[in-house]
Amino acid sequence: MTNRHFVFIEGSSRRDGNSAALASKAREHLPEGATSEWLNLADLPLADFEDPRGPEGASQVYPDGNEGVLLAATLRATDLVLVSPLYWYTVSAPMKRYLDYWSGWLNITGLRFRRQMAGRTLWGVTVGHADDPGQADGLATSLKFSADYMAMRWGGLLYGIGDRPGDVLRDTAALRAAETWFSAALVGAE
Ligand SMILES: Cc1cc2nc3c(=O)[nH]c(=O)nc-3n(C[C@H](O)[C@H](O)[C@H](O)COP(=O)(O)O)c2cc1C
Repeated sequence: MTNRHFVFIEGSSRRDGNSAALASKAREHLPEGATSEWLNLADLPLADFEDPRGPEGASQVYPDGNEGVLLAATLRATDLVLVSPLYWYTVSAPMKRYLDYWSGWLNITGLRFRRQMAGRTLWGVTVGHADDPGQADGLATSLKFSADYMAMRWGGLLYGIGDRPGDVLRDTAALRAAETWFSAALVGAE
């Protein structure tokens, strides 16, 4: 069996925030033998995405710079974990921008980005101030549909409650869920 490699992509707008803290807890409990890496979008800023598609479609070359680093890391993941604060019921702007770049990567000649990502697993980790995890339904739906579109498996959304940095470390239910998050059965898996 191929070794699993978890790539965590963090998209908070502050350092040492709650979503990173919760995802770090879950990262301490990866399945046996799994490796991992962590990238923070704040260290790899992307310009606003510009849609290159005209009437004839688009063909792009493999990107360099931060975009190239993020694409390479995305392709290394058997398990891609998107770590974002809950902002206005969805992902943060940096995380949304990173996802928008996937649309450009679909047009890179010869890359077959969708085919390469197919069968890998997408996971979400988020923290909001709301006691009601249903407030993250929009975020969960957007990631789940993105996984479906890419023929990836959807691992599910780990939700924690917190507002000030460190708050989520008092959300004992979320911390308990984090301990088994990546080894529990996939949502909807046969
Ligand atoms: C721009 C912005 C929008 C937010 N929107 C929501 C929201 O829709 N629902 C919610 O429960 N909390 C919301 N919050 C609170 C954050 O989710 C909360 O502070 C969280 O702990 C931030 O995660 P972080 O520490 O990883 O950045 C918002 C905070 C900000 C700054």
